[in-house]
Amino acid sequence: MNQPTAVVTGASSGIGRATVKTLAQAGWRVLATARRADRLASLAAEALCETHVCDITDGDSVADLATKAAVAFGGRLTAIVNIAGGALGVDAVETADLDKWRAMYETNVLGTTRVTQALLPLVRANGFGSVVLLTSTAAQAAYQGGAGYNAAKAAETMVARALRLELVGEPIRVIEIAPGMVKTDEFSLVRLDGDADAAAQVYAGVAFPLVAEDIADIVRYALTVPQHVNLDLITVRPVAQAANHLVARGRGV
Ligand SMILES: NC(=O)c1ccc[n+]([C@@H]2O[C@H](COP(=O)([O-])OP(=O)(O)OC[C@H]3O[C@@H](n4cnc5c(N)ncnc54)[C@H](OP(=O)(O)O)[C@@H]3O)[C@@H](O)[C@H]2O)c1
Repeated sequence: MNQPTAVVTGASSGIGRATVKTLAQAGWRVLATARRADRLASLAAEALCETHVCDITDGDSVADLATKAAVAFGGRLTAIVNIAGGALGVDAVETADLDKWRAMYETNVLGTTRVTQALLPLVRANGFGSVVLLTSTAAQAAYQGGAGYNAAKAAETMVARALRLELVGEPIRVIEIAPGMVKTDEFSLVRLDGDADAAAQVYAGVAFPLVAEDIADIVRYALTVPQHVNLDLITVRPVAQAANHLVARGRGV
């Protein structure tokens, strides 16, 4: 069987970076992409992968990514792994900065869709394959200060669901992975405008938070079960988190 291939977005940090390493270790050929070239260079030094700088909010940049993938993988692709995205701010609806909401929509929804549009012909040319969208439990329930991110991730969920309906009859599965709290280096730092103390508080007292490698392993699993099996929604939380707003802290779990 041919070596499977994947384009992984969000590869410069956190879950995306871990996913590139996990898939590469599992024998996949991976094209890793994000905006920060230096981070991609250091990833390529650690994992066997190709890299390409791309801003998923820019149509020309994503078109270049698709060209790079087509050349690298001979016009075929096994999996599109959409991980790039994130949250900006924890503002209440009444006072929220709508530019941040717009930016979250641009990356999580439009960026993910743009990448998927550009790469789907390569998956079709492969004869079978998968599209992964990394949403969030924020897509499933609102929380105070979460509305902008809740809305963006819920919209991304709807892209996944509609795409699955539109692809029915083709051997292309659409896999949504919705994590709760995952302790990564940058997610909360970016969300909280670089406030390291506030970012640390998000995970304070949680002995065993999810980490990027947990999600990477789930991506690998979902991509390597037999092709007729579609794990269409995987919701995953740390045991300490029963709901978006309900986290047991200082309890050793
Ligand atoms: N951590 C959590 O608790 C959690 C929970 C549920 C879901 N998620 C979701 O999981 C994904 C990854 O989260 P993470 O924790 O790994 O966060 P992260 O470390 O901040 O990773 C975000 C990634 O997205 C990339 N990115 C952002 N904007 C981009 C753009 N315009 N073009 C291209 N790449 C862009 C970043 O790379 P560059 O800055 O180099 O471009 C970075 O690699 C996100 O979609 C997030 O919403 C996270």
